[in-house]
Amino acid sequence: MRALRRLFLSLLLLCLAAPAIAQTSLPRIVTKNGRHALLVDGAPFLMLGAQVNNSSNYPSMLPLVWPTIHAMHANTVEMPIGWEQVEPEEGRFDFSFVDEMLRQARQNDVRLVLLWFGTWKNTNPQYTPEWVKADTRRFPREIKPDGTSHFVLSAHGRATLEADKKAFASMMAHLREADPQHTVIMVQVQNETGSYGIPRDFSPVAQRLFAQQIPAELSSRMGKSGTWSQVFGKTADQAFNAWHVARYVDEIAEAGKAQLDLPMYANASLTDPFTLEGVQFGASGGPNWNVIEIWKVAAPHLEILAPDIYSSDYAKYAKYIERYGRPDNPLLIPETGNDVPFARFFWLALGNGAIGWAPFGMDATGYFNFPLGAKQLDAETLDAFASKFAVLAPVARDWARLAFERPTAGFARPDDASDQTAVLGRWKITAKYGFWQFGLEDWPKSRTSPNKDLPVGGAAVIQVAPDEFLVAGSDVRLRYSLDKSDGMSSQFLSVEEGTLRDGRWVMARRWNGDQVDYGLNLVRPTLLKIRLGTYR
Ligand code: DGJ
Repeated sequence: MRALRRLFLSLLLLCLAAPAIAQTSLPRIVTKNGRHALLVDGAPFLMLGAQVNNSSNYPSMLPLVWPTIHAMHANTVEMPIGWEQVEPEEGRFDFSFVDEMLRQARQNDVRLVLLWFGTWKNTNPQYTPEWVKADTRRFPREIKPDGTSHFVLSAHGRATLEADKKAFASMMAHLREADPQHTVIMVQVQNETGSYGIPRDFSPVAQRLFAQQIPAELSSRMGKSGTWSQVFGKTADQAFNAWHVARYVDEIAEAGKAQLDLPMYANASLTDPFTLEGVQFGASGGPNWNVIEIWKVAAPHLEILAPDIYSSDYAKYAKYIERYGRPDNPLLIPETGNDVPFARFFWLALGNGAIGWAPFGMDATGYFNFPLGAKQLDAETLDAFASKFAVLAPVARDWARLAFERPTAGFARPDDASDQTAVLGRWKITAKYGFWQFGLEDWPKSRTSPNKDLPVGGAAVIQVAPDEFLVAGSDVRLRYSLDKSDGMSSQFLSVEEGTLRDGRWVMARRWNGDQVDYGLNLVRPTLLKIRLGTYR
């Protein structure tokens, strides 16, 4: 009896303790039926992100960061941590900025993604400590085919790897102690790795490795064996570097995870998504779309390979999303341009199951990476992002949960503003751009809206039940029809504007009359719940 009572009591205690454990559980990535979610505090989390400028990682800059973050309604800040900053002298670690950032992030009610700028930052070693930069004997640079030094650190420098790994693991060990509540939800290991200028290291060590057979694990993934040149032909240098850079990054990630097992990812500087012709493979060796397979084999400790998308060309943006959103790779866009034409891709990313999306350069420190991004973060530019995040922020948890479980689709205005369609279940959804809110498509004046020439508009939808959809979008007209009519007609049973609160729909009003007679015309970012029916 007593044993039974003790068992009962300990079970009871366990149940009582469970919510507390869930509260502090480690962020992690989960995958089900090819869809992914980032769990934070035990539940799906949609990262409405903002990445600050490269040199905003100092306490004195933070007052210029928070107003932009709040204006954007971001729930996550991506913040660089430079190796030079945390280990200015070898073996002397200084995590005071990490601590300050944790404190201020909590105060400002946002989560953090830390960006480890170490061996590679846009391929170069500028963020390594001076003692690394100065010692090219111990920390070798790549060697060019002509035998001279290249600026990039070699992926074959064992001492460089060990030193970077030690610093990174120390930071993760520090986080384990300093961040029990997991304000930090994810860590980026290095930044845009690879090699600009030359495709790989041509040092004697590298040359020897390059002449060998490709590693057995890679052979079995590729279904081919042979030397790098035999297997990869004209992309051999890039493939070889991808393997070695990925192994290097993976070893660092593994050491970091041994201290604190947060989700980790590597971001990619991208080449044209359609062709490898005429390009030198960009940051050769980084996780570009054509070497994703190599990175997947070489870096099993990275949950995600993530594209930095700075093209606002619709076809390219959509292709990058297609290439990186895979059953074995959650879609995360950790950097994208912060100019108005990029904002519409938030909807496309969301509708393609993105776990996070973040424009780059979001602070008021006065730096602008135009022409990649905006010339200025003026009110209109900021609003293009902020107005969308504002609608999603209150429902981000519910959106992430539903998008993990249910079919979704995303739209963004293509460059020629032509219609786009998606089929979910028996419903065909058509997105149209450049119409006034009022008027049928074939009315002469319907499409004279000034928006018709602007790169704005898009929507994300979740099919929450066979005939029920959650719709978020802006500057778009959506029409629903039966994919196969079979003599049936379709109708809206109800269209409601509102929001979600703790998983429950809260209606602000029903749309009817003009608001539904010409399709669903979303102008400012809006959240709708629609129910559809048929009649004969
Ligand atoms: C991509 C890099 O990852 C960023 O850190 C930054 O350098 C941008 N390019 C350009 O502003």
